[in-house]
Amino acid sequence: MRTLVITGAGVSAESGIPTFRGRDGYWRNLDAAKLATPEAFANDPKLVWEWYRERRERIRNAQPNPAHVAIVKLAAHVDEFLLVTQNVDDLHLRAESEGQRLPREKIVQVHGDIFETRCSRCEFAFSAGSPEPPPGFPVIDFNNGRLRAGVARSIAPTLACHSESGSLLPQCPECGELMRPGVVWFGEQLDPRKIDRVENYLARASCDVVIVAGTTAAFGYIIDWALRARDQDGQLIEVNPDPTPLSGFATHLIREPAGRALPRLVDELLAT
Ligand code: OAD
Repeated sequence: MRTLVITGAGVSAESGIPTFRGRDGYWRNLDAAKLATPEAFANDPKLVWEWYRERRERIRNAQPNPAHVAIVKLAAHVDEFLLVTQNVDDLHLRAESEGQRLPREKIVQVHGDIFETRCSRCEFAFSAGSPEPPPGFPVIDFNNGRLRAGVARSIAPTLACHSESGSLLPQCPECGELMRPGVVWFGEQLDPRKIDRVENYLARASCDVVIVAGTTAAFGYIIDWALRARDQDGQLIEVNPDPTPLSGFATHLIREPAGRALPRLVDELLAT
């Protein structure tokens, strides 16, 4: 069975990670969809970093739910598998089924990785999950609302960035520009290497099963990939309590939370 799974924020909702749209999509009365923009970062980088630091902390404390686990199980048992996720959390990567995790080559995080911190200007990047921050890492101090640039003399101010608790904003050690979370914001281009990975998978052959779970399918490329991936006789299965633009094209609609629907669906697919 050749399979494509596309996921969105709804798959992590049952792990306690807020979705982007609807009543969940607010933080301090601010619309998450408006915070995840280059404009919001240009206007108020401290505010945007605070939001991402809180999200990182929440994700670190969260556990994969049965939906994540079911997807790992599916991947382990089908002939060919690719997961395209819009989620920037690491719950797909941490989920385990039968002692196995999803290999990195089977997942494309099209909207990036929230634990990556990268320069707004140059190519410099590091993972906030890494144990050692880069030595002499420069920081910008936003205390008292004043911008004060300086090089971290000890590891302590750098750790303040890493602990996600300080008011320090990371500054690129290569070019001095402010660093930002390694995610794709509204209006930004997807990483062409990631598009290529999805396109190569679609080009090799069509899929017997396409599952689209927990996404509003608000982006044209998500709809396009889901529709193009499906074989003429293949199934397009939507798992979402609410209708989406893809619902009309689905061969099966499962109007249930992903954590309940996906374990059952995966068992049914593997039994056929
Ligand atoms: P959204 O927040 O737009 O949508 C979440 C979807 O999940 C909705 O369709 C809900 O009905 C559904 N949902 C909620 N709880 C669910 C559950 N327990 N099980 C299954 N479905 C559930 O999230 P995305 O579609 O992922 O992009 O949003 C796509 C992108 O918009 C995000 O990656 C982010 C955001 O702006 C960027 O940051 C570029």
